[in-house]
Amino acid sequence: MNIGVIGSGYVGLITAVGLAEIGHKVINQDIDSEKINKLINCELPFYEENLEKLIQKNTYINRLIFTTDIKYLVDYSDVIFIAVGTPPASDGSADLKYIYQCADDIAKNINNYKIIVIKSTVPPGTCKKIEDYLKEKIAQNNKKIEIDVVSNPEFLREGNAIYDFFYPDRIIIGTSSYKVQNVMRQIYEYFENSKVEILFTDRESSELIKYSSNAFLATKISFINELSILCENIGANIKDVSKGIGLDKRIGNKFLEAGPGYGGSCFPKDTSALYNFAVKKGVNLSIVESTIKANNNQINYAIEKIIKILSPIEGRIVNLLGLTFKPNTDDIRESPSIYIIKSLLKSDVYIKAYCPKGMPKAKKIFENEPNIVFCENIYESFVDSEGCIIVTDWEDFKNIDINLAYQLMKSCNLIDLRNIFYSNDKVKSLFNYYGLGVPANKNEVYI
Ligand code: NAD
Ligand code: UGA
Repeated sequence: MNIGVIGSGYVGLITAVGLAEIGHKVINQDIDSEKINKLINCELPFYEENLEKLIQKNTYINRLIFTTDIKYLVDYSDVIFIAVGTPPASDGSADLKYIYQCADDIAKNINNYKIIVIKSTVPPGTCKKIEDYLKEKIAQNNKKIEIDVVSNPEFLREGNAIYDFFYPDRIIIGTSSYKVQNVMRQIYEYFENSKVEILFTDRESSELIKYSSNAFLATKISFINELSILCENIGANIKDVSKGIGLDKRIGNKFLEAGPGYGGSCFPKDTSALYNFAVKKGVNLSIVESTIKANNNQINYAIEKIIKILSPIEGRIVNLLGLTFKPNTDDIRESPSIYIIKSLLKSDVYIKAYCPKGMPKAKKIFENEPNIVFCENIYESFVDSEGCIIVTDWEDFKNIDINLAYQLMKSCNLIDLRNIFYSNDKVKSLFNYYGLGVPANKNEVYI
């Protein structure tokens, strides 16, 4: 089957590469010519493990083509996936302008029947609206062409995207047409053969499943984050509380790790878009509202904690580890680190930052800021630091030479917002150790 994928971002590119790898002929289009030029040369436009080899292989065997030419994509494809961004508008709702741009482009270039698959995260009712919009536009162009719009949300995680493509927990397809169902079955035949559950439903339910999944996961995180504050208050240990809760199979142990608040391009925007959507429908999703509030509170709590521990913080040098919103990605969208840095800079703190993959993007945000430097290597960041702040749980941080880090610092305060060193006795013997929601371990009075 010839498949077109519009958008070469985290979702579009993975979808295009994955569909090519399971045997389809795929054309991937983006308006960003810099991105497409990189891809044509088999270079990655963003960091994602195990992606480069699959691009090389599938372009080499001619199953994957990259282009900026939308007409080429529309002519070539039986099925067109839309995987462009749906960023937050100023009122918190999902801004669908890129989706409508794609609809305009398809309407302008369409010459025969197409199935259009909305892979981007969109509010319930969007597929129907896009179908009506496309039909109207096609008619305005004096063409008589049938189309169907189907919902097929994406559940991949950045940093695990290739694994998630090949081993999804489920595939959700929203359509009421048997013809479309059959085509979608053919596209995903590989997964049906490997016994992945494919759930067919109506379009609105499919669109809502995506938002509800993200909101539920975000709620689990906010729940454990609020409890981490209570743990600090009463001297309990959030790591044990989390483990104890998670041992109940009905609850499960995933997404119960306390931290400085969830970030990324999806949980913050999708919780807010779902809440906003429901309010417009006259429904108050009070749990989602609380999840959002708790997340904002958590990041502020983390900032206050840093300021309190390093008080008086003005003029001090700190080193901050981890700029991305999670490990194994270069994505810094809505990263807690960025909020923490902005806040510390307001308090005249001098920041030495290090991150395995997040520095190029973070440098652009802080390029005119004299009080932050981006260090070439992790040890350079420790030199003369009066407090090390760990914001993202990169594996690289867990394996550092802790004796060397200790020697390089001016004052040995370690604020570990991900509790990565909580079980490390060596770290606790050397540093004034402050985890999140776990008892602190102070070896000396801070001066
Ligand atoms: P992204 O910002 O990484 O990529 C979007 C791409 O679309 C960009 O390359 C942009 O240039 C391109 N684009 C915009 N308008 C276009 C147009 N008219 N024609 C062609 N290309 C156009 O976004 P993303 O992270 O891949 O997210 C895409 C969608 O998938 C969003 O709705 C998001 O919520 C959802 N989603 C994202 C993830 C994730 O982990 N990032 C996971 C699941 C779902
Ligand atoms: C998330 C979902 O996990 C994906 O299923 C979904 O497809 C995607 O959003 C999306 O719609 O874009 P992602 O944003 O890549 O994926 O990252 P997660 O691993 O879910 O982490 C999100 C945030 O929650 C990170 O800041 C992470 O540090 C935080 N988190 C996660 C915690 O603080 N504690 C946890 O226990 C888990």
